[in-house]
Amino acid sequence: MKRPVAFIAGTGRGIPARIMTNHDFAALGLETSHEWIVERTGIVQRHIATDAETTCSMAATAARTAMSRAGVQPGEIDAIILSTATADRLLPSTAVDLQAELGATRAAAFDLSAACSGWIYAMTVAEGLMQSGVIETALVVGSEKMSSIVDWQDRSTCVLFGDGAGAVILKRNEAHSTRGILSAFMRSDGTLAELLWRPSGGAKAPFSQAVLDDRSSYVRMAGRGTFRHAVRSMSEACDRALDGARLRGDDIDILIPHQANVRIIEATAKYANIPMSKVYVNVDRYGNTSSASIPIALDEAIESGRVKGGTTALLVAFGAGFTWGSMVVRF
Ligand code: UT7
Repeated sequence: MKRPVAFIAGTGRGIPARIMTNHDFAALGLETSHEWIVERTGIVQRHIATDAETTCSMAATAARTAMSRAGVQPGEIDAIILSTATADRLLPSTAVDLQAELGATRAAAFDLSAACSGWIYAMTVAEGLMQSGVIETALVVGSEKMSSIVDWQDRSTCVLFGDGAGAVILKRNEAHSTRGILSAFMRSDGTLAELLWRPSGGAKAPFSQAVLDDRSSYVRMAGRGTFRHAVRSMSEACDRALDGARLRGDDIDILIPHQANVRIIEATAKYANIPMSKVYVNVDRYGNTSSASIPIALDEAIESGRVKGGTTALLVAFGAGFTWGSMVVRF
């Protein structure tokens, strides 16, 4: 097992106050039901941002809490890595807006695009920058305004997603510390990109009247195929992170998986031999907040005392790309 180079010094979340329940879809004229959504996904409600709440503003709320809990001032942050699939605009990055908003005067800032796995990827990149000696302190955020890219006329996708942000302050460890990131794993398979994607609206098929008319700039997903790959990939990711940390499922105190569907979470936990009593689930309250889901869940788990000093956590994600990844973290 490698020496943990980086540790989580503080966490926070930024959640829009507005709640949309499953029953609220009736008002949109969608043929769906609370029963269908709960049975197939476990989702009961999701938070939806107002026009004034942006990917940057939710990230800033999460970041300020994380910084205050870590005792870190904006000027001490060396890098801001913002994972998002819903940048506030296309150029420049939303991370630079966050840098300006926080007054993080000496920070490098960039967005990272790996869909729902983005925050795990971002944490791994930040750890690497610490390992190579480039940075000491990073702000790693997942922030998503999924409500801005889902098709509100497509019942097969719009019921699944929600908005929110989660942030951590990651710091370089002092020598001989046993807390921090014990292992990390990342993979991708771009041959499957079209199972979960936004076909248009980028450089290849820029926005046009035709794009607006056929609604091809919105998220499209082949649900069943995505489900199958999610279970398989998250299972592999559990194995790889556990192997990397020389641990077994029994050694894990808490599994914090990406929150897309409670059935995927249950299948992943079963595969990893971790009982559901050790799994953090909040998909019922948030829906799928893409790359924000793990840092939001982690922040809640810390706040409620389920994660504390000495806890060993397995974090595992899967998303569009497909991308997947995992890490074992000791607190
Ligand atoms: O975060 C990135 C990763 N994302 C995921 O991991 C999501 C993976 N996929 C899933 O979670 C599930 O596939 C879904 C929740 C999206 C769908 O559940 P499913 O059990 O796979 O249902 P399905 O897509 O096979 O659809 C079953 C039926 C279909 O009707 P027919 O063809 O059987 O008549 C759908 O048209 O359910 C219908 N349906 C709905 N009915 C009521 C689809 N969406 C809805 C809806 N309300 N919202």
